[in-house]
Amino acid sequence: AQKEAINGIAKEFEVSTENLRTIVKQFNEDMDKGLQRHGATVAMIPSYVQGRPTGKETGKYLALDLGGTNLRVCEVNLLGDSKVTIHQQKFVVSNELKTGEMRHLCDYIADCVDSFLTENGSDKLDNDLQLGFTFSFPVNQTAINRGTLMQWTKGFSCSGAVGKDVVIMLQDSFRRKNLNVHIAAIVNDTVGTLMANGYRDPKSHMGVILGTGTNAAYYETMDKIVKWDQAPTSTKEMAVNMEWGAFDNERRVIHLTTYDNKLDRESINPRLQTYEKLISGMYLGEITRNVLVSLIDRSLLFNGLSSPDLNKQWAFETAYMSTIESDATKDLSDTQHVLESILGLPMTTLVDRQMVKKVCEFVGVRAARVSAAGLAAVLSHSNLVEEGCTIAIDGSVFEFYPNFADNMMAGLKELFGEQIENKVKFALARDGSGLGAAVIAMMAHRAA
Ligand code: BG6
Ligand code: GLC
Repeated sequence: AQKEAINGIAKEFEVSTENLRTIVKQFNEDMDKGLQRHGATVAMIPSYVQGRPTGKETGKYLALDLGGTNLRVCEVNLLGDSKVTIHQQKFVVSNELKTGEMRHLCDYIADCVDSFLTENGSDKLDNDLQLGFTFSFPVNQTAINRGTLMQWTKGFSCSGAVGKDVVIMLQDSFRRKNLNVHIAAIVNDTVGTLMANGYRDPKSHMGVILGTGTNAAYYETMDKIVKWDQAPTSTKEMAVNMEWGAFDNERRVIHLTTYDNKLDRESINPRLQTYEKLISGMYLGEITRNVLVSLIDRSLLFNGLSSPDLNKQWAFETAYMSTIESDATKDLSDTQHVLESILGLPMTTLVDRQMVKKVCEFVGVRAARVSAAGLAAVLSHSNLVEEGCTIAIDGSVFEFYPNFADNMMAGLKELFGEQIENKVKFALARDGSGLGAAVIAMMAHRAA
């Protein structure tokens, strides 16, 4: 019965090559829709970032990074010759701040910047410091440093922010705290990642985040951004923030399991961010937990017994999946540690642990394969399948999840043939968006 159950679950999470092709096709149509009109599901937001970095940029800039695992404040010193030094400090954003009033969150961020500047000794009174603000949420930009929040994602839900200009709100907090810091640019993390890698590698065409959330940005030619109704630009291309996490909110091409539906219903944004919920670190553990609990309910796992911890929403972290999937011990003792010592399950058998490992693998492989469909859509849209390019990627899932990159590449090979591996390169751009935001702040400051 256990074998049968596992085979059944494997089937539910399977994404065939044919499925991948269907997803890519829909993705391409949705990208076109987003480029043509405002308000599409895949929003395709023009970033106002024109032109590519040269690596010759110089100057000292501040960068802020909100929306990933940590809030980070960085001082970025661009030295030219693709060289850079970065000092940074990480701060924790509590759940109360993530779900409270936006004004409180902005004041907290201002305090973090203040304490960073105090500790790093920068002269905040005399100089008006220029800052690039990486704000990793969907923002409808109206200028390089203007934009209204369209909606929250990834567990944030501060009141008084949706529909408001987040730059103005944060700048107000800086003013209240007497900080001489000017927000020169607001940047999505994907655009920051793209720019950071472009500072080092001119073949960078895409910036992708596979972390708490997922999203991508790429360079688009201006004439394809049909909805662009601003002044004509001097350059031929602009980075576009796709907001691909919302792909297939209409539920046309992705097969959702009952475990996905349960997660979605119980999330704070049901029916939204459908694609993100299959891929990103905030959700993979919870999908797995749903599968495990259902196996327990059918008395097929852990002798039918759960634990208070395993019963809690979000208690099964995606990081546990990484540990379990990389467990190479004969008796799966690392897995046992997670299940018994961390999650408090009374006793697990080797068969239990093998089943848990399998479930993690199904959820993880599906995530990588559907991610490949998004990459494939951009590669074909931009006609880069033959020529190839560098895809800059950041985020905890890409960095730490076992075999994620290989499984994505396997998906690309099924779609485009073996040779794609020699053409498309994945580059880990760790903490890239700080550097990217600084480069963009510099470009914006110069232009102004
Ligand atoms: C960081 C980037 O390294 O990765 C952030 O600087 C980004 O901008 C983050 O949001 C994504 O990864 P995670 O796993 O922290 O969500
Ligand atoms: C979410 C946000 C998006 C961000 C991504 C990765 O999808 O909406 O803006 O880029 O997470 O952090």
